[in-house]
Amino acid sequence: MALRTVLIMLTIQSWSRSEPVAGPYDVFIDQWTECPKGLVDPFFPVKTRLVRNRHNHNDMFLFANYTINERLDDSSSMRLEFGSWSSGGGWKENAFIMKFQRLCSTLNNLAPRTLQALERSLSNSKKVSPATCPWNPETYQITNFSTLEVKSTIPALFYGKWRINLIIFNPKTQVALACFRVYARTTPKMPFVKTSN
Ligand SMILES: *[C@@H]1O[C@H](CO)[C@@H](O)[C@H](O)[C@H]1NC(C)=O
Ligand SMILES: *[C@@H]1O[C@H](CO)[C@@H](O)[C@H](O)[C@H]1NC(C)=O
Repeated sequence: MALRTVLIMLTIQSWSRSEPVAGPYDVFIDQWTECPKGLVDPFFPVKTRLVRNRHNHNDMFLFANYTINERLDDSSSMRLEFGSWSSGGGWKENAFIMKFQRLCSTLNNLAPRTLQALERSLSNSKKVSPATCPWNPETYQITNFSTLEVKSTIPALFYGKWRINLIIFNPKTQVALACFRVYARTTPKMPFVKTSN
């Protein structure tokens, strides 16, 4: 029998026996939207379009136009508010929160592959692409960003279904500079799942 089959069986067995709550993970994005009105002030409207990859149902391509009014750079901070989906139904707000200073450096350290893929998908109003962090005030177009590029160097996370508010803000004034809401799932890392193309 192929080694691959044996390993998959072993992995599945160890899951059902111990049901780990956290560990090495895969991330899958289900939805990527604007933050609801009132979550942060000002409101950041954005129309996103997600197109499912017909060859890999875990993959979607993101299209959006996004306007920022202030420069996003290493003087900006980022906060990720994780709402968790409870087994009884409903979202538990702020199940945990991650805060990072120095936006560009943090993205480079925590999610280098995601940042590079995002920069390649970004073009500014003069059609210059890639548009790399720091980002000047502009309307940016996101074209065909594969959600499978969302990966981080954080070695372990809780498993579950999340509604994440991704808020970029000025740490001095606490004023929001950008906001997205992303729905995602973290599942135990499968060695043989195709997570990229
Ligand atoms: C973004 O703007 C461009 C140019 O105006 C337009 O062609 C495209 O459809 C827009 N994309 C989305 C997702 O709204
Ligand atoms: C998006 O990227 C995928 C994979 O790289 C490609 O197959 C697809 O044609 C692209 N779609 C558009 C609209 O560029």
